[in-house]
Amino acid sequence: MSIHFGVAYYPEHWPRERWETDAKLMQEMGVQVVRMAEFSWFKMEPQEGLFQFEWLEEAVALLNQYGIKTILGTPTAAPPAWMIEKNPEIQPIDHHGRRRYFGGRHHNCHSNKAYRVHIKRFVTAYAQRFAENPGVIGWQIDNELGNSHEDLCMCGSCRLQFQRWLAVKYRTIEALNDAWGTAFWSQGYHRFSQIIPPLITAAGENPSALLDWKCYCSDLIVNFAKWQADIIREYCPNQFITHNYMGFNQKVNYYDLGTLLDFVSNDSYPAGYWQKTPHQPDSEIAASYDVVRGYKKKPFWMMEQQAGIAGWEYMARAPKPGQMAAWAMQSVAHGADSILFFRWRTCAMGTEQFWHGILGHSGNPGRTYQEAKTLIQTFAPYMDEFEGAMPNPQVAIVHSFRQNYAFDIQPNHPELRYVEHLNKYYKALYEKKIPVDFVQGMDDLTNYKLVIAPLQYLMNPRLEQHYMEYVKNGGHLVLTMRTGVKDETNLCMTDMELPGRLGELCGIEIPEYDCLLGKKGGILYGKKEYVIEKWCDIITLQGASLIAEYSTSFYKQSPAITEHMYGEGVAWYVGTEPGKELMEDLMAYFAKASDIETLGAAADGVEMMTRESDDKVWLFVINHTRDEQVYHLHDRYTLLEGEKEEFLNPYEIQLHVKTKHKKG
Ligand code: GLA
Ligand code: ZN
Repeated sequence: MSIHFGVAYYPEHWPRERWETDAKLMQEMGVQVVRMAEFSWFKMEPQEGLFQFEWLEEAVALLNQYGIKTILGTPTAAPPAWMIEKNPEIQPIDHHGRRRYFGGRHHNCHSNKAYRVHIKRFVTAYAQRFAENPGVIGWQIDNELGNSHEDLCMCGSCRLQFQRWLAVKYRTIEALNDAWGTAFWSQGYHRFSQIIPPLITAAGENPSALLDWKCYCSDLIVNFAKWQADIIREYCPNQFITHNYMGFNQKVNYYDLGTLLDFVSNDSYPAGYWQKTPHQPDSEIAASYDVVRGYKKKPFWMMEQQAGIAGWEYMARAPKPGQMAAWAMQSVAHGADSILFFRWRTCAMGTEQFWHGILGHSGNPGRTYQEAKTLIQTFAPYMDEFEGAMPNPQVAIVHSFRQNYAFDIQPNHPELRYVEHLNKYYKALYEKKIPVDFVQGMDDLTNYKLVIAPLQYLMNPRLEQHYMEYVKNGGHLVLTMRTGVKDETNLCMTDMELPGRLGELCGIEIPEYDCLLGKKGGILYGKKEYVIEKWCDIITLQGASLIAEYSTSFYKQSPAITEHMYGEGVAWYVGTEPGKELMEDLMAYFAKASDIETLGAAADGVEMMTRESDDKVWLFVINHTRDEQVYHLHDRYTLLEGEKEEFLNPYEIQLHVKTKHKKG
């Protein structure tokens, strides 16, 4: 039986005498793996060069006796005080030029040379020590790289590295001056050494410089991870390497980071205390798993799956009975092969005292423990069967870190957020029970019947060509507002009307536009008027036909959404951000015109998703609501797990299977 369930465990937070009780309780619950030690540098190296791994070896061995394997974390997100005392320059500098000090975590610069030396010494000893340990199956590098690093680090070392990165990219300072448009506001440089990280300015910033900075930061983090991955690969060829991602978080390009890893892991807190609603909308959670699966086009692990109330200074809502299990199986439905709950036991100390685990502070098994146990007993056997199986969507949404960066730098409209915008398209499909893949623009798109490429703001000739060929060969493509505005260096393009060469593909030109600042707009689609938001491209038809027209402002009756046959396919252009209702109706039209199958019908809050092996399709139906629900499937499946066909109790998870028809 493979490994499907586990927990994050911190034996160093508890007396040694408790460990065995924990191991027993874990075993009874069905835990097969723990992640440990990702914040325990001080405990493992209390003085420079003095390694004390015995306590960890003891914990690994004890757990192994109970059949529980270990993933070890490298503790590089928390350098200890003695190291900071010796090399205070490890502490990062924020964009105000202020140091961020010891006392929390992530107090480390990623480029600092002295820090790299400490890491090399420690990770080498750590990897050598556990390479042959029978209890250890793999490694997690650092922890949530990019978390708490929003504007870090801008120290002297990072400045030098940024200059070098730019020199490699541009070769000459003239090329950089052109790419950054430094003719504006007297920003020209003579030498790379004059360039600094984007520290706080008196007024305004250069969008091209900021884009390079964000890409540089991402490359630096990947390089930081590689520094460790190389060591672990050398000494531990039989153990895997992974890292815990944070869904759509954009600080580091997760596609790039993924090239270092055997598989990607993810952390998810649907009811995190920072969420604006009691819990994150189900569609957003689902989308974040689909993008995580897309980073390596492979099933992934959930390294941290929310178990209980989430809290730091204050707390969020308690997961309702059954809700934690529904969230966990949602991860599985979207491609997770293993789920580790965060954390085993609620911590008594430190920042995360209120971050609740499977056990409460008391350490007594309660409701959460029982729910996790039931979940594991019910679903672990099936997970053995469909391990490695992938969803097989007919629809793709294009995702890009660079586009995300460009909109972080200039949202265009104050409320426009790249990921939120993608999620609006996703949600409409999700609610129609249509599975989605996230892909990169240059990926092979031929297997998708419908590709939605929102906000193709930064554009280049290769990507234009790629989209045109996809449609020419029969693809259905949706392009949207703010497409083709900028080149790869974040300068506005000037040689054609918007949306550039893609105007030929869409049969349109956009000579004018309007930013809906502080108001919503209207559109006429079919015979109905709908609300639109944020943006209006005022379109001129150049061969396309009109699908919807504006019903407000001076461009009333101008085309807003268009359709164009191109080669064997169709290109749609959506010149605005559709409000919820329009989005639903529009996506119904696009899906129908692209011949997309939906899995079934049910109310919002009832999720459907499939994973496919060579000969089988597993269908998950999950009730994310606290009400009973009914649903209808569009194909014949056998119910494997669940009380009653086409009926769901609150938070119930049902699993179905069908055998694929053999082709030919
Ligand atoms: C993150 C981290 C964990 C822990 C949890 C809860 O996802 O990876 O170390 O801090 O959040 O706050
Ligand atoms: Zn730095």
